[in-house]
Amino acid sequence: MASMVFTDPSSSATARLLPFTRFSNGVVSLRRIVGPLHVGLLNPTFPRTLSLSSPRSSRFITAAMATEQSAKVIDGKSVAKQIREEISAEVLKMKDAIGVVPGLAVILVGDRKDSATYVRNKKKACESVGINSFEVHLPEDASEQEVLKSISDFNDDPSIHGILVQLPLPPHMDEQNILNAVTIEKDVDGFHPLNIGRLAMRGREPLFVPCTPKGCIELLHRYGVDIKGKRAVVIGRSNIVGMPAALLLQREDATVSIVHSRTKNPEEITRQADIIISAVGQPNMVRGSWIKPGAVIIDVGINPVEDASSPRGYRLVGDVCYEEACKIAAAVTPVPGGVGPMTIAMLLSNTLSSAKRTHNFK
Ligand code: GUN
Repeated sequence: MASMVFTDPSSSATARLLPFTRFSNGVVSLRRIVGPLHVGLLNPTFPRTLSLSSPRSSRFITAAMATEQSAKVIDGKSVAKQIREEISAEVLKMKDAIGVVPGLAVILVGDRKDSATYVRNKKKACESVGINSFEVHLPEDASEQEVLKSISDFNDDPSIHGILVQLPLPPHMDEQNILNAVTIEKDVDGFHPLNIGRLAMRGREPLFVPCTPKGCIELLHRYGVDIKGKRAVVIGRSNIVGMPAALLLQREDATVSIVHSRTKNPEEITRQADIIISAVGQPNMVRGSWIKPGAVIIDVGINPVEDASSPRGYRLVGDVCYEEACKIAAAVTPVPGGVGPMTIAMLLSNTLSSAKRTHNFK
């Protein structure tokens, strides 16, 4: 979670009137706008059964938007739950067959509350699907050498199949040096330059794809959104989300534009998109006027805004003004409950894939 609290231009009263589940069973029209349904596996490292066994039909976005004033809610929480159940079954199968349990090592440096929460959630998620998790927590003033030593130990440990260094690191550390030290066979975050480089190149396959963008694409797949030939706009160009999301969309044959802080006409460019992935960290930046009618919106932003009516004094909103998007888009992810749960599900998926690959377990 970002550390700043922003003011929300939309009223909290309006937000409370828009329960996320309101249209969860509704049939909303998209086929006319984004073309025929497309089902396909994006990433060969993703367990086949995860994509193929899901009951997709109830989630397909199937009928036309223009006359209906409400977008379908893309329910990341329920998709992630389903994926976790599938992973859980596969973990058990592997344990029974060859006695191997996947293991994830997490390295946390410093005392950022948001990072500590993310790490705690990742460990809890591992536990819930039967993946072993290990944590090294180093103090804020730890040396880069200490982090590198932990990585090296985990690289050499056969019970560890995935290594994650929680970002951001303290400013005195060289992030590039540290991410380069994770062996690419255990790089479940997909941040190693070799994995990113392969993601960027035609005809090359990364061993792992970064979890948040992979979760975004998985949501599009599971909701039957056709990507091929569509205009996609990614808002934000971070190494963790924006850049790999754009590469993934391009691999899926979308025509991709990246909008960033120096883009002169972000609203005009975004309005051309059939698919928007926003990962910019600005609450409600994408207003209704930025959205093409019938677009599909994946909102990665998780931004705290003041809310005196909430017991915590704040609530979480996305980069996209949800109330306005609901009236214009064909489908939209809520915040919370959209992309967030998918990120962790993809981390578990990458860790399971890694263990399977290491032990040649199909
Ligand atoms: N910090 C924010 N998102 C991520 C992520 O996906 N992986 C890691 N390692 N750090 C993060």
